[in-house]
Amino acid sequence: MNTVICGLQWGDEGKGKIVDYLTETADIVVRGQGGNNAGHTVIANGQKYVLHLIPSGILWGNKTNIIGNGVVMDVVGLCEEIKEIEDQGVSVTPDNLLISDRAHVVMPYHKELDAAREAALGDKKIGTTKRGIGPTYADKANRCGLRLADFFDEAKLLEKIELRLVDANEVLAKYDLPTFTAKDVFDEVITAFKRLKPHVTNTIPTLHGAWKSGKTILFEGAQGSYLDVDFGTYPFVTSSNTTSGGTSTGSGLAPHAIQRVVGVCKAYTTRVGAGPFPTENDEIGEFFHARGMEFGATTGRPRRCGWLDMVLIRFACMVNGVTDLAVTILDGLDERDVIKVCIAYDIDGERHEFPPADRDAWDRITPIYEEHPGWLTDTTKARSWDDLPENAQKYLTRLAELAGAPVTYIGNGPEREQTIIR
Ligand code: GDP
Ligand code: IMO
Ligand code: MG
Repeated sequence: MNTVICGLQWGDEGKGKIVDYLTETADIVVRGQGGNNAGHTVIANGQKYVLHLIPSGILWGNKTNIIGNGVVMDVVGLCEEIKEIEDQGVSVTPDNLLISDRAHVVMPYHKELDAAREAALGDKKIGTTKRGIGPTYADKANRCGLRLADFFDEAKLLEKIELRLVDANEVLAKYDLPTFTAKDVFDEVITAFKRLKPHVTNTIPTLHGAWKSGKTILFEGAQGSYLDVDFGTYPFVTSSNTTSGGTSTGSGLAPHAIQRVVGVCKAYTTRVGAGPFPTENDEIGEFFHARGMEFGATTGRPRRCGWLDMVLIRFACMVNGVTDLAVTILDGLDERDVIKVCIAYDIDGERHEFPPADRDAWDRITPIYEEHPGWLTDTTKARSWDDLPENAQKYLTRLAELAGAPVTYIGNGPEREQTIIR
């Protein structure tokens, strides 16, 4: 059975931990979209690992990990990431990490263009991770991007960079920013590419071979459904399809190869960066930050926090085709005496069960809440459903009912072992 793991909120739902947990019974772990804007934290064997581009399956040693064609590849960033986890004792070889030769490369000018655009937007900025994600996907769609396959012929690569810089430099100059020479750009990326070259291949036949021979494949989503460029809170989104549909185009494996979609959501809601957040609540944010929780894994920014929003989860379950829910950080609510859940939106006096498409309507949402009594019990030692306090069971049961999907996994702490299966 092949499974997609995707986030149902604004990212950071705890996908990395769930992927790591499910990897035990998988053979291959694939990333199909996003780039090193992602930050997936896994705590295993008493160590903390933060992965940005490398699939979380790398921590199991004996699994194949694939960075698919839909990922935007920061070659310099990936080299640093490999070095970091190698220093932590994880081995990364061309046997356990394959990179698609069709993946687009994040170039130095993409990062500058990302930052420049954000600065120009002023108080309307998106709050991007400044990893060059938007400009790289824009070049892909605009047919002027560079793929890893372009890196094998160095003379031609230099020409391609020169051609692309004609436009990129014009934009940078418009923002009064330093421009690039093709040689500087080339020098910056080529060393990194040479380090990665043994990993770069046509990953699609490998993936198909694995599927046909009955291997188990996990797809590790990055970001969350409300950062999806089609279904998210546009324009406050990332530039890829983060929902399950992106899996096929991002990897080259057809939709009917996938049987299961695990939707990951926190027991509350968080968001990093700008954009609408109807259930945002500063008091909850202060509560988590005081406990050292909810700081971004990539940029270190404090995450905005709020109550669980079932309008978002309901629609995300629909769009992703969620077959199983994984509810994470249940333990985060252990000390709360009253827990609120948003079940619908009031917009201009009308009740809405689904999020609006109109960006201006988001500013006029009043969440409709129901209140649940807390459990005021430490859940972190629970190892089964029966170990959970009754009020926590009721909360999860209600969540499943509102989502229209069963809660199959429950996270009650950051460690591998703190995962309950129902
Ligand atoms: P991802 O981007 O979806 O992989 O999530 P992140 O790793 O960015 O953020 C999730 C954070 O929550 C990380 O620090 C995890 O270690 C932590 N985490 C995941 N699941 C649980 C859980 O069930 N309980 C607690 N307390 N922390 C968790
Ligand atoms: P993981 O995989 C949370 C957010 C940024 C910003 C918006 C656009 O760890 O869940 P971008 O750099 O992609 O152009 O930024 O998307 N964002 C994330 N927020 N988790 C992530 O990834 C994110 N990746 C991007 O903060 O609001
Ligand atoms: Mg994250």
